[in-house]
Amino acid sequence: MKDFIPHVLLASLLCIGYSSCKNTPNHQYTFTKTMVEDSAMVVTAHPIATQIGLDVLRDGGNAIDAAIAVQFALAACYPVAGNIGGGGFMVYRDARGESITLDFREKAPAAADADMYLDENGNAVSERSQAGELAAGVPGSVDGMAQAYARYSQLKNWKRLIQPSIEIARNGFHLTERQANLMNEKRVDFDQNNRAETVFNNQQEYSEGYMLVQSDLAKTLEAIRDQGRNGFYTGWVADKIVAQMKDGNGIISKQDLLDYQSVWRVPITTDYRGYEIISMPPPSSGGIALTQLLEIIEPYDIRKLGHHSTASIHLIAEAERRVYADRATHLGDSDYYNVPLEMLMDPDYIKERMSNFDPNQASISDSIKAGQAKESLQTTHFSIVDIEGNTVSLTTTINGAYGAKTVVQGAGFLLNNEMDDFSAKPGVPNMFGLIGAEANKVEPGKRMLSSMTPTIVLKDGKTIMSLGSPGGSTIITSVFQVIVNIIDHGMSATEAVASPRFHHQWKPDKIRFEEEGFDQSLVDSLSAMGHTVEQKGKIGKVECIYYNTEGMIEGAADIRADDTVMGF
Ligand code: GLY
Repeated sequence: MKDFIPHVLLASLLCIGYSSCKNTPNHQYTFTKTMVEDSAMVVTAHPIATQIGLDVLRDGGNAIDAAIAVQFALAACYPVAGNIGGGGFMVYRDARGESITLDFREKAPAAADADMYLDENGNAVSERSQAGELAAGVPGSVDGMAQAYARYSQLKNWKRLIQPSIEIARNGFHLTERQANLMNEKRVDFDQNNRAETVFNNQQEYSEGYMLVQSDLAKTLEAIRDQGRNGFYTGWVADKIVAQMKDGNGIISKQDLLDYQSVWRVPITTDYRGYEIISMPPPSSGGIALTQLLEIIEPYDIRKLGHHSTASIHLIAEAERRVYADRATHLGDSDYYNVPLEMLMDPDYIKERMSNFDPNQASISDSIKAGQAKESLQTTHFSIVDIEGNTVSLTTTINGAYGAKTVVQGAGFLLNNEMDDFSAKPGVPNMFGLIGAEANKVEPGKRMLSSMTPTIVLKDGKTIMSLGSPGGSTIITSVFQVIVNIIDHGMSATEAVASPRFHHQWKPDKIRFEEEGFDQSLVDSLSAMGHTVEQKGKIGKVECIYYNTEGMIEGAADIRADDTVMGF
């Protein structure tokens, strides 16, 4: 049974005032981390985007209207991951109980081929898939938002939804301390990957409170406001994208842009302890991997094993090892590759996968060397519920922080580096240390495999949770742990999201723990069982909305960054 009072207390503890702007002394952000309300809720990675989503809901928009406004707002106020130059996935459940997913993932250009990231000796060249024009897939976000609008908008006022993002871009917004620091950190990447100065490298040093004005982006957003999808995929914006490709080493053509289509897909669903989990099918691995993880641990009394006990972390790490091995071998874009969905989610298969589980000893991922998973807060997730109970869970990305680090000149937005999510060569790790095979090789028009896991959870046919996370390969395990924290350990959403996280992805063969929140004795006991352990950085950045047992809506924004929840 959740208690209302501790939530309120936690809310005041976690509300972090923001008032030390050097350039703009009057400026202030409040990063609200937890909130309990009864009607509607928005949780995003930035307070401006959260406010914009909330305003749409107050103006009579539904969760889809708010999601569209938030997607464009994040493109302006959260350029590290918010985007119009990338793609994403949305899981949507309407108030009548119908669930659907929207795949607006980027696609490989028609001129792409399986060897495009190999040098003359057949070695993968990661720089080519991670930065600059060649790293970019055909963007899907604008088409995705246009499709969501056409099918579900209640407000029926596209211009109203785009206008706030234009104002952020044209008039500017104040950088948070984190944003300023990250832009300074990535300065060298912007210098290397742009032939002209951009708004991300035109200052010697950015500081908290700096007013970031993006006039070119404002013009692009105006074209989208006035012409919808065509404002991006045709006309002068498309010309700028193609010119950028020709000036650099890119291959996206006018025809690729014209041809881009997002796709409505049937969700992956599974039952876990009487809860229905609704998540993303391929080309995301998220839904399948989440299903496998939950099915593997369901026979165990996780609560009795104890939260963050040696036994429970060992079990979960062993589950993750097996699930990520399946991911590497079997998962890719199901429009191009016959993903063995039924096999992967078959209870007998899952049971068999754990038949060699030893509760006292770590197993060994085979000896092929894989790269290190880099700490990164790229990608961004938001969750929205409206007053009717329509629920959006949407994760969107340009892949790495600031994507390809290349701005389309004159159009002001960052290109994605999503092509790195393909397997450039079987067995060679990508930027997240993930390896892949035939299933995820580059093919023209194909979508690269993703780990994004936007998820909605039901109980007795009613929506009770909407959640997701950034974090590359760690997305799946972050979402999984928050669900287990709530369902098995009885935590509030706020506690579940704040709780420290750990991650295993088969290769590299190690459990990674967040730097803070785990006792050395726990880490030592797992080492003694044969696990390689590493304590480093932060893992994931979950946004979660949860209908608690009193029927109130609890919003939880991750304490790990500038994320903010608002509701009414
Ligand atoms: N770009 C990260 C992912 O889609 O998993």
